[in-house]
Amino acid sequence: MYHTAAIVFRDGATRFIKVEPNELLMDAAQRHGVNLPVDCREGVCATCRCLREAGEVEVEYIDEEALTEEEVQAGHVLACQTRLKSSASFYFDIDSNVCSVATEIFAGTVSAVEQVSEGAAILEVTLDDAGAAMHYLPGQYARIQVPGTEEWRAYSFATGKARDGKVRFLIRLLPSGVMSDYLRDRAAVGDAIALEAPFGAFYMRQIERPLLMVAGGTGLSAFLGMLDELVEQGGCDQPIRLCYGVNQEQDLSELGRLAAFADTLSDFAFEPIVMNASEAWQGKRGVVCELFDRDFLAQPFDAYLCGPPPMIEASRHWLEKREVGDYRLFFEKFVSS
Ligand SMILES: Cc1cc2nc3c(=O)[nH]c(=O)nc-3n(C[C@H](O)[C@H](O)[C@H](O)COP(=O)(O)OP(=O)(O)OC[C@H]3O[C@@H](n4cnc5c(N)ncnc54)[C@H](O)[C@@H]3O)c2cc1C
Ligand code: FES
Repeated sequence: MYHTAAIVFRDGATRFIKVEPNELLMDAAQRHGVNLPVDCREGVCATCRCLREAGEVEVEYIDEEALTEEEVQAGHVLACQTRLKSSASFYFDIDSNVCSVATEIFAGTVSAVEQVSEGAAILEVTLDDAGAAMHYLPGQYARIQVPGTEEWRAYSFATGKARDGKVRFLIRLLPSGVMSDYLRDRAAVGDAIALEAPFGAFYMRQIERPLLMVAGGTGLSAFLGMLDELVEQGGCDQPIRLCYGVNQEQDLSELGRLAAFADTLSDFAFEPIVMNASEAWQGKRGVVCELFDRDFLAQPFDAYLCGPPPMIEASRHWLEKREVGDYRLFFEKFVSS
């Protein structure tokens, strides 16, 4: 006996799907052509998070990185870990069109690799079929196959759209890691590279309120993509503040590009902050929340957070505990992929 799940989207669209006994909500949705955002499938990344509005469910696993205790108490679940015990209804805070696009694997060629700071590199890939339409929304990510391996890793697009078949990514160089080692030691222009896209529920919504962007380390990548798209669209009539936190000043990347956005967009400002700064560092020191401007946040706003889970949790906590205006929160955690 199957149960029926109602999948309700932010734009009001609703799909009804049949969920077989023991079937995961995520799998049932995909079987019906509803491509819910998915990444780890292990209850860790929270990409597939949703709110159970009605019905009984059985949830296999929720990692503490994925949902807080309060969120679980409030009824949030992970579609990749949820089975139905009765017919049920789930709210996904994404637009329905994000789920109608299936991911596709694209063949590409490395067209540039540039180390832009001690701890990060820009990887540029040119799609082999320049006419191929790679549809993604700024903020979403691709899974890239590390050349010469069977390993795939997730990276947020640092470009608003594929232009002339080119897409870019800002990638952290860990002391050792499959992608980090490739970029540092072997990557060369001309390497064949495959990528699958689009993925993720973190994307720039229609802008109706001031934006707070919070980037931790290479979490900046997603914001480079969003800002790039805003410039392409001819600007933005809402103020945007980007708070950019890194561990050491040597990790600061793409400051020139951010300055160019500040010159082009009418009300965009950014500020970096460094946690473990050297004595020579002249800018702010500390964690990224120390950059949050209470006056700016007194008005209703949308907050986008992207980067390492501790930075996201600290920012969420800060916003929850302060008297700030009404806000909508969107985030992408860079868990190990
Ligand atoms: C949705 C999503 C989007 C992402 N977007 C980006 C992006 O735009 N830019 C970017 O740089 N990264 C991004 N990441 C992280 C990225 O996918 C990889 O996990 C990271 O680049 C490490 O890959 P690697 O192959 O070099 O290391 P791996 O071979 O995966 O790992 C090597 C070792 O490092 C540890 N490790 C892995 N990731 C981290 C980390 N972030 N911090 C500390 N230790 C770690 C592992 O546990 C392992 O011990 C994203 C992750 C997700 C889930
Ligand atoms: S895809 Fe469900 S938690 Fe990662």
